[in-house]
Amino acid sequence: MKPNELDPSLHGARRARLAQAMQGGIAVVPTAPERIRNRDTHYPYRYDSHFYYLSGFAEPESVLVIVAGAQPKSLLFCREKNEERETWDGFRFGPKGAQERFGFDAAFPIGELDAQLAALLSDQPALYYPVGADAEWDLRAMGWLNAVRAQARSGASAPERVQDVRALVDEMRLVKDAHEMEVMRRAAAISAGAHKRAIRAARPGRFEYELEAELLYEFRRHGAQFPAYWPIVAGGANACVLHYVSNDDVLRDGELVLIDAGCELAGYASDITRTFPVGNKFSGAQKEVYEIVLAAQAAAIGKVRTGSGWNEPHDAAVRVLAQGMIDLKLLAGTLDEVLEKETYKRFYMHRTGHWLGLDVHDAGDYKRAGKWRPLAPGMVLTVEPGLYIRPADDVPKALRGIGIRIEDDVLVTNGACEVITHETPKSVADIEALKRDAS
Ligand code: GLY
Ligand code: MN
Ligand code: MN
Repeated sequence: MKPNELDPSLHGARRARLAQAMQGGIAVVPTAPERIRNRDTHYPYRYDSHFYYLSGFAEPESVLVIVAGAQPKSLLFCREKNEERETWDGFRFGPKGAQERFGFDAAFPIGELDAQLAALLSDQPALYYPVGADAEWDLRAMGWLNAVRAQARSGASAPERVQDVRALVDEMRLVKDAHEMEVMRRAAAISAGAHKRAIRAARPGRFEYELEAELLYEFRRHGAQFPAYWPIVAGGANACVLHYVSNDDVLRDGELVLIDAGCELAGYASDITRTFPVGNKFSGAQKEVYEIVLAAQAAAIGKVRTGSGWNEPHDAAVRVLAQGMIDLKLLAGTLDEVLEKETYKRFYMHRTGHWLGLDVHDAGDYKRAGKWRPLAPGMVLTVEPGLYIRPADDVPKALRGIGIRIEDDVLVTNGACEVITHETPKSVADIEALKRDAS
């Protein structure tokens, strides 16, 4: 099955699992609203990840309702067919079309949502919805509950429990199924190709945005609908600004460039960082720092296996980076002191990874009951150590302004983990070979 092809049975199975996990009650999962960018121009539309995970339905103004119980039911509320609007904005499934194509038990016009929920919630033990995610939906949910309470004298009772539906769906989303893994491998391959294209295109005098354009071109020409987040293309000391996105500086000979970019394919994110020379070769100092970050990443990836605690890859990376900072004379003291006092945080201030999936920083707890979560097959995470040496008087001159991060996407399996972004060149030799071939 192609990533963009839809198999409604997958989403149906997810709805059935959610209904079972709810142990009674009604779940209401709205999709994301359309948002104005300026005046009457919209941002490109992106559905809500929870909604899409459970429905596969991409239209705005849609709400999924799941009625749990012995015979669970899935209802979709969506826009009606409308010839005039479809002439301007394009095809709409309409309730009947959506029910047939996506396998819901029933579907209704979105305008009927409030009235139907007031009836559906009567005598139900619980209402699940994304509590606190949006003030407007909070108000509406209270409206449904009060509508049921208003019928108390005719014997209707309102749900006593209101719970966040995201907690249950987050747990499901954390472990990817075979279809999700395939889409994520494909997204990773497209992003790997985009990084290769940008590495080849870099040379002194080009601008950061020219590399950004190469990335976006490569994403789109392979069918990825969006970048999963805005690409970071940071030449020289710009790489020490973690969320640098202006991408408008010139690339200078002798400097490195850090690119953090990944596409979104059929809803799924990829997230890759590579750091490479603007010219053809790393300098001695750049190579020294690079090899430390690469070794930290290898140590962290070595800890990504079933049963490892979430924090083990991070701890492994920090150890290697901290020893590297001492060796580079960025920090004084012993390794134990540097770890204990956390002085390494001046040059490595972020975590080594995050869950990856429909959202780039994906759903799922990192700790449960006070303990770091053990990794399990099907979880996908990033491994992204870095070293950021902002120019300052007290750091060795040759190191000033060097910022390096190396980021891959990794799938936990029963054996060694699978680095799904493995096609992106990473060793000094491979990167220099690619640059040599391109020049
Ligand atoms: N690009 C976002 C991140 O690496 O977390
Ligand atoms: Mn990233
Ligand atoms: Mn990341």
